[in-house]
Amino acid sequence: MKITAKAWAKTNLHLGVGPLRGDGFHDLLTVFQTIDLFDTVTLETIEGEMVEEGSVVKRLSVTGPRGVPEDATNLAWRAVDALVARRAEQTPLPAVTLHIEKGIPVAGGMAGGSADAAAALRAVDAWIGPFGRETLLEVAAELGSDVPFCLLGGTMRGTGRGELLVDMLNRGKYHWVVAVFAKGLSTPTVFRKHDQLDWPPNFEIEELSEALLEGDYISVGAALHNDLQISALSLRPELRTVLTDGVRAGAFTGIVSGSGPTLVFICENATEARDVADALIDGGQVLAAHVASGPASRSARTRGAHILSIED
Ligand code: C5P
Repeated sequence: MKITAKAWAKTNLHLGVGPLRGDGFHDLLTVFQTIDLFDTVTLETIEGEMVEEGSVVKRLSVTGPRGVPEDATNLAWRAVDALVARRAEQTPLPAVTLHIEKGIPVAGGMAGGSADAAAALRAVDAWIGPFGRETLLEVAAELGSDVPFCLLGGTMRGTGRGELLVDMLNRGKYHWVVAVFAKGLSTPTVFRKHDQLDWPPNFEIEELSEALLEGDYISVGAALHNDLQISALSLRPELRTVLTDGVRAGAFTGIVSGSGPTLVFICENATEARDVADALIDGGQVLAAHVASGPASRSARTRGAHILSIED
């Protein structure tokens, strides 16, 4: 059996970061939105090889940028193990291989690893499920703060450490330029920097909520906010000039995506976004600049991580 699942990148239209909690995480008030860059995860059973105990995953391979682990530390691998462990009866299962095709920047603040975990959960659910929404969301939250959102997608408000999700009304489709850098940033490092800087949290999303209802890119652009931006910029001062360059090239505004270093610029339309992306590439400071739109999908079936194909 061969199952391929797809999951979108996310950005945070708002990211408010509260104080550090006892469990090492921060309380957040965030607004997530999918952007139509994506990864796919393919789970394929190995004929004639059954697994009595231990991980069913025998190999993991990755196509795309370097820096993605190809062992049991990969979040997609851990996702398969975590969901397989939730079966009512622990009977032997066929061994499987995993293959990830990356379209989402690595260590970029766009939930690439979390998207892979979400896609892997969908694949296992199609293979030996259904496990039900509750279990999928529970396992997703154990795997990482952004995994539940990657599973559900769309435009959602996240609280807790980001895993408590409520749908938000959004009327618009937004055109983005996603500026990617050669060197990623570690999320814990950015949060640590944030603690050092002791920046007060911004938990105000009223303006953004109204802007999303209106669906107008200028109002949404004006309401974008990221509490981690100051920390990401202090770790990577060179991002500041790229932010300015994007606006100078015609973007309405730009912001650090999540914990960075990826920058996302909101533009009037796809043509404008293409011009901004070309200008950033010409500037020579970015590894790549993609044109993308968000939310990635509005259809109930494809708005979050979803199955692309199943072959027997
Ligand atoms: O949940 P996830 O594994 O994606 O988080 C990665 C790291 O980001 C955590 O270990 C923590 O350092 C930081 N984090 C945080 N508060 C959150 C989410 C993530 O401090 N709400």
